[in-house]
Amino acid sequence: MRMLKLAAAAALCLAASACSKDGGSSNEAPASAPADAPSPAAATAPPPTDAAKAALVAELPAPYNTGDLANGQSKFALCRSCHTATEGGPDLTGPNLHGIFGRKAGSKAGYAYSDAVKNAGFTWDAEHLDKWLASPREDLPGTKMTFAGLKDPKDRIDLIAYLKAETSAKPAG
Ligand code: HEC
Repeated sequence: MRMLKLAAAAALCLAASACSKDGGSSNEAPASAPADAPSPAAATAPPPTDAAKAALVAELPAPYNTGDLANGQSKFALCRSCHTATEGGPDLTGPNLHGIFGRKAGSKAGYAYSDAVKNAGFTWDAEHLDKWLASPREDLPGTKMTFAGLKDPKDRIDLIAYLKAETSAKPAG
């Protein structure tokens, strides 16, 4: 009986693919990384090529320029329930993140930010995204982003590289 229960728990664990995250396996092949969720705006622009994405990541300061896009994409699963990243994508609970690099915090037109973010007074770059994603509520107390934070620094580096590649690309031509 006990063995059966353990096996069932392990199967659930695999299905949820979120158990026993130890932060030490970031080079693992993302065999079951979720594909990009279809978005209503996805049809408006061709997806950037891998070379274009790599060029964008290379623009980042170290260590973000070493970010692993596959792991970043799988970490973005933690954000998708509240954020879209595609150009022209809808605001959900949180604002659309297209163009976030170089955008003043709390400045996307049509989105109702908390005062904490609206009055933050800085412009998003890799370093500030790192601080924010480690703990939004410590970075900007009073924010309404109810995300506890991404504790593994390597996961944040990878996610920031992914965000750079996905949210800055302009369609070629
Ligand atoms: C439960 C919903 C939720 C989740 C999950 C979430 N966010 Fe947010 N996010 C928000 C909300 C709400 C705001 C607006 C915060 C405010 O106004 O205080 C926000 C704001 C932001 C901003 C600032 C946007 C701007 O225009 O200034 C960034 C950047 C951001 N989120 C990135 C992320 C990333 C990356 C993740 C995944 C690791 C994530 N968020 C996960 C809800 C969420």
